Amino acid sequence: MRTKYCGNIRIIDLNKSLILSGWVNKIRNFGQFIFVDMRDCTGIVQIIFELKNDAIFKKALSLKNESCIQVVGTVRKRNSKNLNLNTGEIEVLANKLKIFNISKSLPLDYSNTNSDDLRLKYRYLELRKSILFKNLKVRSQVICLIRTFMTKKNFLDVETPLLTKSTPEGARDYLVPSRNYPGKFYALPQSPQLFKQLLMISGIDRYYQIVKCFRDEDLRSDRQPEFTQVDIEASFLNAIQVRKIIEQLIKKIWLKILNYNLNKFPVISFKESMERYGSDKPDLRNPIEIIDVFDIFNKKEFFKFFEINTSKKNRIALLCFSEGEKISRKKIEKYCNYVNKFGAKKLFYIKITKYEIGQSNIQSSIKKILNNTLLNKIINKTNAKNGDILFIMADKEDIVNKSLGMLRIKLANDFKIFEENIWKPVWIINFPMFKKDKFKKLSSVHHPFTAFKKNHEKKYNNNLDKAMSDSYDLVINGYEIGGGSVRIHNAETQKKIFDIIGINEKDQTEKFGFLIEALKYGAPPHAGIALGLDRIIMLLRNTNNIRDVIAFPKTTSALCPMTNAPSILKKENLKELSIKIVKK
Ligand code: AMO
Repeated sequence: MRTKYCGNIRIIDLNKSLILSGWVNKIRNFGQFIFVDMRDCTGIVQIIFELKNDAIFKKALSLKNESCIQVVGTVRKRNSKNLNLNTGEIEVLANKLKIFNISKSLPLDYSNTNSDDLRLKYRYLELRKSILFKNLKVRSQVICLIRTFMTKKNFLDVETPLLTKSTPEGARDYLVPSRNYPGKFYALPQSPQLFKQLLMISGIDRYYQIVKCFRDEDLRSDRQPEFTQVDIEASFLNAIQVRKIIEQLIKKIWLKILNYNLNKFPVISFKESMERYGSDKPDLRNPIEIIDVFDIFNKKEFFKFFEINTSKKNRIALLCFSEGEKISRKKIEKYCNYVNKFGAKKLFYIKITKYEIGQSNIQSSIKKILNNTLLNKIINKTNAKNGDILFIMADKEDIVNKSLGMLRIKLANDFKIFEENIWKPVWIINFPMFKKDKFKKLSSVHHPFTAFKKNHEKKYNNNLDKAMSDSYDLVINGYEIGGGSVRIHNAETQKKIFDIIGINEKDQTEKFGFLIEALKYGAPPHAGIALGLDRIIMLLRNTNNIRDVIAFPKTTSALCPMTNAPSILKKENLKELSIKIVKK
């Protein structure tokens, strides 16, 4: 149905007769001739219909935007070139026109911003827009690169079941009722975690899969209920070896897709990341860091001033920000209110102006306790210069980290001080093994199949709060694009972890009995990781909305406005599944 794609026609095709198939992008009628911009997946070319050719001209008069057509025509030089188009030097003089389908006027207005619901309802039309099409093209290229890379490294692509049992990854499961076993449900996998571990016990050695995962959780701009992981597992490799392979893969993708050479990825611990950036997914393009000043204020009078309790785990820290002169009192107040959202009681400040004439001239909300000695100490520690502003906070450690971490991002956004056109990957390692909820119940920070850091199992047997896991997350420009760990490969430790996180013996057997048993049949040491494919494409395509890189995504409330999923089942379907709906 075509001999050439519209976007690929060039001056060397002059005088050639071509068959083109595609859509009407735009029509301009000049009386004697009609111009039609014809579009296919490669781009646009100008078609001209001349009045001289009466029959075809009449047919062209009936065209509407977005109609699907076929044109047979001859390539000729354009009188006025259009340098914005790859095909701008030529046009195609039509001598045959076939109309496959006239289009109704589209419900989407491409020149306007349409509502999210409308865009998703007519997603198939929205995808006609070149930017989304380009995203899908890059996605496909990246998948191809990954497959080639993994195959070269001897990883075997193995599929794992979608109708399965729950794998805890921190979200709720999507459940599928079983017709054959009334009252029983399959869970869609939150990840193939347990299957890939079982494949290691099978001796598969190196596994990978580009796989859909399902998580019923609060959605955000970088989260979808079903998303795609590049899931990887290998036997007899340690954490450093796994990270090395992933680093090579990511470097390859960035080079091939963006022509960008990534440097060696820095590695920092979770603790350091929280202390310096207040987050375990720091955006290292942001030059502001949290600086600890507890030692400077380590006196009773200061604790009293800051109203903090010395017996609790408190932190005194600050941000030193260079744009102090642009920050009015009103703005300071705005930032004080901003940190309240994260539980912080107060945000103090010192504006470093005319430092040489001493603290008496300084604008600060801690003037009551500020003297020259204290100021000198602060300035020595922070390297603050004239014109800087220091935002100081004294509160519980987690509140200080969270609040200053968020303020760090807000300031960088407000004053546009992110380094641009740069990629800053970082490995975050040594996460705590467990976290405590308000009822002091422990749960795993990664998933419960994650191994202790070497020696930590024994060392912190009675102080589990302090134990670290042998885990790693990959963060690029503030996005967590992957996470993994070394796994527990003996049944005893695995059971111990389940005990610690409060899964009773009965549930252990019921939910994870197969894993515990499998670990008893000569399980090899193994480690792995899963990369978020959608997030990688988001970064590569410079969008902060995950929906832009998925062909048919869901809304933030997990709906599909196009198919109207999820939908109500008929009574007979429910009956067949032995399900009764209880109104909430
Ligand atoms: P984790 O839960 O960290 O690890 O997931 C791995 C990566 O998947 C991406 N991701 C998501 N992307 C879009 N929408 C979501 N709702 C979503 N949730 C996660 C993130 C994340 O880093 N089984 C372990 C991996 C392992 O230990 O090997 C796991 O799933 O980029």
